[in-house]
Formats: sequence, structure tokens, C-alpha cells
Amino acid sequence: MEKFHIAIDGPAGSGKTTVSKRLAEYLGFDYLDTGAMYRAIALFLNERGIPEDDEQGIDEVLSSVKMEFRNGKFFLNGREVGLEIRTAKAGALASRYAKIPVVRKHLTRLQREIADSRKMVVEGRDIGTVVLPDAELKIFLTASVEERARRRWRELKEKGEEISYDEILKQLKERDERDSRRSIAPLKPAKDAVVIDTTDMGVDEVVEKIVNFVKENPKWK
Ligand code: DC
Repeated sequence: MEKFHIAIDGPAGSGKTTVSKRLAEYLGFDYLDTGAMYRAIALFLNERGIPEDDEQGIDEVLSSVKMEFRNGKFFLNGREVGLEIRTAKAGALASRYAKIPVVRKHLTRLQREIADSRKMVVEGRDIGTVVLPDAELKIFLTASVEERARRRWRELKEKGEEISYDEILKQLKERDERDSRRSIAPLKPAKDAVVIDTTDMGVDEVVEKIVNFVKENPKWK
């Protein structure tokens, strides 16, 4: 087996990152976090003062910036994308720049190149619908918005970021709205995706469930 793509999509806080990493490790697959790419690009454009409505400016910057994926890590102009992309601010910026067609065009192309001929778990919002429509397995994770806010709050708190639960809940609702309503590549399950509600499930349970789907797949050998 040369290529096997597992698309893991879903809203913020649905458990995508934790589940995808564990799954990739368990199966010995590579792992691609496309949200990290949107976060890094959004911070980069924002730092350069390029507004969301300047499509031409964005296109120029994205055509010239060197984006690479080496050993599971994402690099912009040779610099590894670090912890700064994990802040609530970077998440909000990513969601805003992710609406812009030219941003999606560049990142979608790069994501397809990276995943080509690989065994890979690819995590995002539009992997099963747009980036890898022929993925061998498509999973859409969801959870109640309150549970997702609790998870995000715990995660940010552990990293020392001071932010209230109510603020996170508000931000998540705004992001869900923006990510689901945008005209291109909106957040929604692919027609052939398996939807898993993780509200009352532990990480191991979710991973086990997905592994069972993988093993049932005719291409899995
Ligand atoms: O998964 P995340 O929280 O790291 O994603 C950050 C934002 O990036 C998210 O709000 C929407 C955007 N995104 C996207 O539009 N398409 C993807 N494939 C991944 C992320």
C-alpha cells in the first residue's frame, strides 16, 4: 500500500488534533495539521500589515514566501512555525484569512503536494470535501459547543494563557459561524464522511473507533 489518506475534519475543540496525532502514531502514518498552516500564514500576513481584503497583496506574499513541510514540521522562509500559532489570537486571525480564496488556493495546492503518495492523517476543516476528496477514509468529529469550549479553555490555561471560559465560548461560536458560512470550502461533513460525536467520549475510545474503520477498509492491507 503506497497511499492511504485519512481526512479528519471538524470544528475547533472537537478533538481533531489530539485524535489525529495519536492515530498517526498508532498506524505509523505521517501527520499533517492544516490548521497550523492557516494559523502561520495568518500571523505572517498580519505581521506584514496585509489586510484580509488585499487579495493581490496576499497573492504576492504567498507566491514569494517559502512554505515547506519537513519531518512533520511546517517552515515559513526556513523558520519553523512555533508556539505562537497556538494562541487564541492566531486562531481568530486564521479563521478570518481562511475565508480569502487566494489563501485557500495556495494552501490547498501545498497540502495536496505534501499528501501525495503518502500514508497520512490530514487534519482540517475541508480535507474530505475539498483537499482530498478521494481520501480512503473521511472522519468528521463534532462535540457540543460547551464541551469544545471547556477543552479549549483547559488547553490554553495549561499553556499559561489567561482567558475566561465565557470568552472562549463566545470566540468559538463566532469561529464556527465564520468557518461554516464562508462561501468557499465551508466547514461541513463530506457526504461519505463518518460523523463521530466526541462529547462524551475519551480520546482512546475515538482513536479505537477510527482504527476499526481503517481496518475494515478494502485498501488496508
Ligand atoms: O484547527 P485550527 O483551530 O488550528 O484552525 C484554525 C483556523 O484555520 C480555523 O478556524 C479555520 C481555518 N482552517 C481552515 O479554514 N481550513 C483548514 N483545512 C484548517 C483550518
